[in-house]
Amino acid sequence: MDNISNSLSLPVVMIALIICLLIFHPLYNLYLHPLRHYPGPRLHAAFHFSYALTYLSGRSNAVMHNLHERYGPILRVAPNILSYTDSDAYRDIRGHRKQGTGQNPTDQTGFSAKSMQEQEPVIRQHVDLFISKLKDIATSQHEDNLGTLDIVSWFNFVIFDLIGALSFGESLGCLEHSRLHPWVQAVFDATNMYGKRMMVKWYSPSSILTAWIGWIIGLSAPHSKQQDFAARKVEKRLAMEDPASRMDFVDAMYRAEFEGEDGLKKVLREEIVFNMRLIMLAGSESTATALTGTVFLLATHGDVQRRLAGDVRGLFEREGEIDIWSAQRVKYLGAVLSEAMRVLPPASLSMPRFCQEGGDVICGRWVPAGVTLEIWPMAVTHSSRNFAKPDEFIPERWMDDGERDPIFENDKAEALKPFSYGPRDCIGKSLANVEMRLILARMLWNFDISLADEKGKTWAKDMLGWNLWLKYPLNVVLTPVRRGKK
Ligand code: HEM
Repeated sequence: MDNISNSLSLPVVMIALIICLLIFHPLYNLYLHPLRHYPGPRLHAAFHFSYALTYLSGRSNAVMHNLHERYGPILRVAPNILSYTDSDAYRDIRGHRKQGTGQNPTDQTGFSAKSMQEQEPVIRQHVDLFISKLKDIATSQHEDNLGTLDIVSWFNFVIFDLIGALSFGESLGCLEHSRLHPWVQAVFDATNMYGKRMMVKWYSPSSILTAWIGWIIGLSAPHSKQQDFAARKVEKRLAMEDPASRMDFVDAMYRAEFEGEDGLKKVLREEIVFNMRLIMLAGSESTATALTGTVFLLATHGDVQRRLAGDVRGLFEREGEIDIWSAQRVKYLGAVLSEAMRVLPPASLSMPRFCQEGGDVICGRWVPAGVTLEIWPMAVTHSSRNFAKPDEFIPERWMDDGERDPIFENDKAEALKPFSYGPRDCIGKSLANVEMRLILARMLWNFDISLADEKGKTWAKDMLGWNLWLKYPLNVVLTPVRRGKK
């Protein structure tokens, strides 16, 4: 009798569990969960899978934008996840909260104004090579290109080379060989797989199983490739006779390791590897994406490009006058970059934070502990509650009062945070700003930029985003500027 009841009990327990999961859990989510009063689609509130499917599609930014326009600035996107487009969201979620989520791991090492001064020759050398390569292509009469190039690839070449050189004192050679280094390819392969990796992580019952599944279906391969590459580069760099002899990020961290005021080692070797991999990933792709987005918008908005090119060509007589400092003087360039990062935010992730122990008030409403808090960048910057004419590219909205249409007076500038906000915001924002301004000023001094084909017009609409944007080629024509001899 005992045997019979034992053999019955397991299936009964299993069935009970499944019934509970399928019926009671969604009912609990809908009618008893502490977030039950937050607005949002019922399907999302009841089950996690509808949100997961949106995520897997790579179109989360667009979907979240549509949902926010319908339900308002605070939205329940999954049973335990809230998404925000309120302009106070960055301050309340990512700002200095009572229990923060930690400081950036790199602790600002190598990102000071003094470091930038030391890095200037490396930046200039890479931008010089980039521009000279573009000039070759622009003046080429080869029937295969006739001045056309895929600007996505070329921005990847220059930025990954530059960040490689600033990180390890050695360029990746993408510009020189006009092709992506295998490490960079691994970054993009990992991006393609990110949605699937998240699915496995969400639905696998244990982290060991997650690792196994990832390994069996090949999801971890590009990730491991990146890790190995960073480890080899750092080892090679530290093996140099005097590792603290070059002005790169490894040097800065190495010095921090041996020059701590208390005489203790501040940064461990593994931390250097971890930080360098992070910097290569976080610093390169984002900047290349921001530049590509800006060029796309300039190529599709002739009036903006003409004004910006006029400002650059009017301010500088010779190309040699344009450097990382003088490029900051082109005021309209700053407005163009802000607006480009608003229309096409370079970071595609929602960068979740967790509501800390004891709960908190977020954008005026109580949120219990343990809830995931998200901000989808495109949903915030395209919200009509935050910006007038949110889908249009109008850099003038970022100019001073006199130059700005009064229609933009109520724009909420605090809703544009492309580099995030708070203790874990982007440590490379000043470097990115310097790189982008120099590259764009030099490009516009030399060329008029236009799309090479009709297909390019839908480039931004076709982008998919997981941890990074998956960008398709964007073919542009660079027409050299004709100048009379002075
Ligand atoms: C247009 C260019 C860039 C954009 C839009 C951008 C954006 C961001 C954002 C949104 C974050 C996330 C912060 C958070 O979690 O709240 C971040 C983190 C970070 N960024 Fe940037 N970034 C750019 C360029 C750079 C550059 C040039 C570097 C360094 C060379 C860099 C290094 C980092 C690092 C190390 C982190 C920390 C990652 C972490 O804590 O997990 N970024 N960036």
